[in-house]
Amino acid sequence: MRFTDQVAIVTGGGGTGLGSTLAHRFAAEGAAVVVADANGEAAGEVAKSVRNQGGQALGVRTDVRREDDVDAMRNAAVREFGRIDVLVNNAFTSNPASILDARIEDWSRDIDVILKGTFLCSQRVLPTMIGQGKGVIINISSVNAHTHVGASAYSAAKAGVESLTRNLAVEHAPDGIRANALVPGTFRTDVWNEREKLVPDLLERLGSWYPLGHVGTTDDIATAALFLASDEASWITGALLPVDGGLLAGNPRFAREVHPENDR
Ligand SMILES: NC(=O)c1ccc[n+]([C@@H]2O[C@H](COP(=O)([O-])OP(=O)(O)OC[C@H]3O[C@@H](n4cnc5c(N)ncnc54)[C@H](O)[C@@H]3O)[C@@H](O)[C@H]2O)c1
Repeated sequence: MRFTDQVAIVTGGGGTGLGSTLAHRFAAEGAAVVVADANGEAAGEVAKSVRNQGGQALGVRTDVRREDDVDAMRNAAVREFGRIDVLVNNAFTSNPASILDARIEDWSRDIDVILKGTFLCSQRVLPTMIGQGKGVIINISSVNAHTHVGASAYSAAKAGVESLTRNLAVEHAPDGIRANALVPGTFRTDVWNEREKLVPDLLERLGSWYPLGHVGTTDDIATAALFLASDEASWITGALLPVDGGLLAGNPRFAREVHPENDR
């Protein structure tokens, strides 16, 4: 129980993928969880499911792009649970259009939800953490920040989040606050399961690009998030941790082309 008496906010926490896994995993380790999502109904459902399993949780409709929503999210956390120990910036949108085809409103939405949203939630939660002399921010980036996978706005926003992570870490280290980013590769969610109905074996095919031979799970990512949020990581800040089955480490197919003599 690494988070007893602690309070964690998960943005995008109403999502059926990582958001809800994070909410359940933090609650299972003792945290009271604020499930913040632009989809208020989904936030409420996840909070209810956490409570049904014996945890403490509150669902709050929060659009991370809106100052008034984010202030209300922070106020609800403090009013209900008295403090804020962990903020996970998980909310995202992503449009797949190519650079030539991207509509400016879709491009701007991804940048706003991911980059501005991460900035705004961090900025508004920081004073509470500074007052406590302790707090942790976990930003969810993506391998897209490091290598071309398409979705140019999403990818650029995630790269911005990684830079912001370093700013948060260094500016607020003297306040006892740590900030780190996870860099996930593809992990299985309902959205991917739906796409798999259109493209059979999609996740198996994607998995074949990963040195470890398969895509990840929401638990793979949540396990790393909980570690970074816990006191076990008390000397880790400003770090970007790939949780990607080795994808960013290199491309085994390319290596085999370069050195066919090593093929086995
Ligand atoms: N699924 C993958 O393969 C993958 C790979 C790399 C990185 N990631 C990252 O992991 C995180 C979680 O992804 P997921 O697919 O599990 O999603 P998820 O299931 O956690 O859902 C994300 C939630 O964000 C919410 N949201 C969207 N716009 C919002 C806004 N303006 N304000 C508040 N909430 C908003 C949505 O309503 C949704 O519930 C994201 O940051 C994503 O970029 C995912």
